[in-house]
Amino acid sequence: MTATLAHISDLHIGKDHDGDGGVRALHRAQRVIDHLNTLQGGLDGVLVTGDIADHGTPDEYRTARELLATLRFPVLTCPGNHDDRVNYQAHLLEVQDDRGAAVNDVHRPAGLTIAMCDSTIPRQNPGLLDDSTLAWLDRVLADAEGPVLVCLHHPPVVLHHPFIDGIRLRNEDQLAEVLRDNVLAVLCGHAHTAAVTTFAGRPLVVAPGVVSTLVLPFESEGIFDYDLPPSVAFHVVDDRGLVTHFRSV
Ligand SMILES: [Fe+2]
Ligand SMILES: [Fe+2]
Repeated sequence: MTATLAHISDLHIGKDHDGDGGVRALHRAQRVIDHLNTLQGGLDGVLVTGDIADHGTPDEYRTARELLATLRFPVLTCPGNHDDRVNYQAHLLEVQDDRGAAVNDVHRPAGLTIAMCDSTIPRQNPGLLDDSTLAWLDRVLADAEGPVLVCLHHPPVVLHHPFIDGIRLRNEDQLAEVLRDNVLAVLCGHAHTAAVTTFAGRPLVVAPGVVSTLVLPFESEGIFDYDLPPSVAFHVVDDRGLVTHFRSV
């Protein structure tokens, strides 16, 4: 079993940067999608780990849906803190559900199980896996045949950036308790920086941001850089584990 996945995050479609009305965010997302569509080989899926829209409006999701629909690979998404559960479902996934419950989804490409978990708290920036999501993930992991990737928006670890650490996942201990031996790695977004560490004894990979790049405290002033190029992660998974490559595009 070998699966090859692209991983993009934090498109923030609709993000108004210096009064540009969202043009820059759209162009950056387009650049990434063009890059993936012109790859010589195939991908088993494109993971999009949240903050797909910047304000969570229907218009932003309609734009995002049109854009992501141009990818020639299956697209797997989960929401982030900038997303709105109801609008995300209605206008990105085209599923009518007004309850506002957590939006979790499981995919099984190429012998792999990929759990896309909703770590959002409505209208708040930090993350939490609620009881329904933890119970859902527990069932997915119990039923999985073969290796599993667990994906969520919020990193469950400290990344040594005060702003991002202040809005990370709040209940990482509960996530660690649910993970089973079949979980190869945990993948997330939210931090707008390519980062690698471990969580609960497994690789934890943070995808770079499409809309911007996090400025580290020792690099310079400010929180986000909008000039560095957008980047993607490529995950190659087989029975031996996960290898991740990063590309700026
Ligand atoms: Fe973001
Ligand atoms: Fe986020």
